[in-house]
Amino acid sequence: MTVTAVVGAQWGDEGKGRIIDYLAQQADVVIRFQGGDNAGHTVINQYGKHALHLVPSGIFNPATQNIIGTGCVVNPQSLLEELDSLAAAGVNLDNLWISSRAQMLLPYHRTLDVLEEAARGKDTIGTTRRGIGPAYADKAARSGLRMGDLLQPDWLRARLENALRTVNRKLAILGGEPVDGDALYALCMEFRARLGRRIVDTVPMIRRALAIGADILLEGQLGVMRDLDWGIYPYVTSSNPTAAYAASGAGLPARCIDRVIGVVKAYSTAVGDGPFPTELCDADGEKLREIGQEFGATTGRPRRCGWFDGVAIGYAAWLNGMTGLAITKLDVLDHFETIKICVGYRLPGGEIITDSMPDTPVLYQVTPVYESWPGWLTSTAHCRSWDDLPKPARAYIHRLSELAGIKVDYISVGPEREQMFAV
Ligand code: GDP
Ligand code: IMO
Ligand code: MG
Repeated sequence: MTVTAVVGAQWGDEGKGRIIDYLAQQADVVIRFQGGDNAGHTVINQYGKHALHLVPSGIFNPATQNIIGTGCVVNPQSLLEELDSLAAAGVNLDNLWISSRAQMLLPYHRTLDVLEEAARGKDTIGTTRRGIGPAYADKAARSGLRMGDLLQPDWLRARLENALRTVNRKLAILGGEPVDGDALYALCMEFRARLGRRIVDTVPMIRRALAIGADILLEGQLGVMRDLDWGIYPYVTSSNPTAAYAASGAGLPARCIDRVIGVVKAYSTAVGDGPFPTELCDADGEKLREIGQEFGATTGRPRRCGWFDGVAIGYAAWLNGMTGLAITKLDVLDHFETIKICVGYRLPGGEIITDSMPDTPVLYQVTPVYESWPGWLTSTAHCRSWDDLPKPARAYIHRLSELAGIKVDYISVGPEREQMFAV
């Protein structure tokens, strides 16, 4: 039995979906532990190409139980659209479950996200506008509705009335239209009709799985640099993508987690606002974006691109207690004569730091200290083992591993399932 948390080690979009899809070929259970449909986890396999938003990336293995965990915020409307699209591709959805304790993200959360971003003027966060922040805010304010409420119509109606008292006041202040409680209740009854049988208390299921020694994967959303507590606040998401939250969000004891795999791109990308020290606003940045096809899986926004950040990976590895790295998109670097790695941040006073992450206002002012590494200028897309990789690529990976302070478990050299190997 192994419980493995798979977490993003950078600013998100590291390739978590494809790693889970690969590992889930052997997994009994996959649990998404936080986030909502702000996620876009791209998986390419025999079912085609899918950008998963809420459905765990283990869904393509019909033998795997897939759970949308308690730590998530679930937009039933977008979940239904995702299920329709997966069903149309012939994917078996019998093993998809939703925690009754997961928060429900309703249409007014999206409206509030859009209005709140507009109200921030020039100080936007650059959210995905999927309502994630408002839904988690309601959870913390204890005015949220949970997926299990759909199974209790009287309770649901009372909770909706309670929520709308505040929501409609907020909407009025921000210039939005009030929400009609009866219409929303009717919509919830449609969600219940289509999703009700999947909404369960996940604890007995997970306890049973642990008792029989099942292999369990915990799927994170986003990455540590957008963690609510440890990321570049306020340019963060409203939940914790770090491994410590995986146990809580999935619903199992923290000491059960055996492995933590940090997924990391061989360079850096970010979508949304906030400091991003290694960002390249030049031809190399454009080249990374074009070759890496760095456009958001959920919003289609062009991703900001830059060199690998060795300070961020050290921070991410420590904070997550990573046991191994999964390095993705190595092939994107095939076309660079010289590749840079950031190994420190120079602070405004001149001091160089390597082993701590400054807070947001300082991070805006740091200058990356780079090492230059020779590229390999040959395709790695066909490589299927460590020994297949060109020597300079192996040296480059060694350096990334050294900066993280942990070993490399997996390398991917293309988006397809088979373009990945264990080290
Ligand atoms: P996630 O949110 O962490 O699951 O990552 P995304 O799916 O948002 O972004 C990763 C993108 O890179 C997707 O388009 C993947 O198909 C693609 N991808 C993943 N691994 C590789 C790789 O090794 N090489 C290349 N070229 N593309 C990859
Ligand atoms: P995956 O799981 C990359 C970013 C947004 C914004 C910030 C807050 O595919 O890696 P939110 O909508 O969560 O309130 O936005 O977080 N963001 C992501 N960036 N990948 C994602 O998910 C993201 N989900 C949110 O761009 O900066
Ligand atoms: Mg993504």
